[in-house]
Amino acid sequence: MNNKITIAIDGFSSTGKSTIAKLIANKYNYIYVDSGAMYRAVTLFAKNNNFVSKAFLNIEELVNNLENITLSFNFNKEFGFAEMFLNGVNVENEIRTLEVSQLVSKVAAISEVRKKLVAEQQKMGVNGGVVMDGRDIGTVVFPKADLKLFMTASADKRATRRYKELLDRGDNVSFDEILFNVQERDRIDSTRKDSPLIKADDAIEFDNSDMGITEQFDRICALVDRKFS
Ligand code: CDP
Repeated sequence: MNNKITIAIDGFSSTGKSTIAKLIANKYNYIYVDSGAMYRAVTLFAKNNNFVSKAFLNIEELVNNLENITLSFNFNKEFGFAEMFLNGVNVENEIRTLEVSQLVSKVAAISEVRKKLVAEQQKMGVNGGVVMDGRDIGTVVFPKADLKLFMTASADKRATRRYKELLDRGDNVSFDEILFNVQERDRIDSTRKDSPLIKADDAIEFDNSDMGITEQFDRICALVDRKFS
């Protein structure tokens, strides 16, 4: 029996999915994959090539250029996590800006983009031992995942967390634009035709509006350990 399971963590933006996913992957010695980073990197590529802006989206040009996008995660020993590389260039910082956040949901709604990224994500998880977070991991990427979690929190709490993260990075942003972005992405991600953000029937929901990281981590570890007992 393969004793390394597949863990899918889906949910709304800024629900702390990646923080918890990294902790879980670390504890069980699993691979962590941040699928959102891949959508962000494709968005950065589209932005840099003028295929997308706040005012327009050139789906045809982007789709025609998808074959020119190579994504990879490279482990950074100093920080202890994998960073996103786009065509060989480290874009880990650039993909986290508010500007990319304001464009990413439009790009992620394109079926051809999803098809490419889902295929790459499925390859990464083929041997199990993976914790992947995103929007469609338990529904589309790994519908047979051994453990599925669905994270939610109030929009206000999520925007507060993201606002602090961006301020800590030194970005010049306002709370109101972050709150708007969080709500706008919720709307686009949940209503798109292809792979909308929905809770899989067999996912366990965590509302972490008032739950600290330690409590979530302990609860999730108990769920993982139960899979082996
Ligand atoms: O970090 P945050 O929770 O704000 O978002 P993310 O995980 O970096 O994802 C950024 C965006 O990528 C989402 O708002 C979705 O539009 C898209 N995404 C997706 O469509 N499917 C995924 N599996 C992951 C992300």
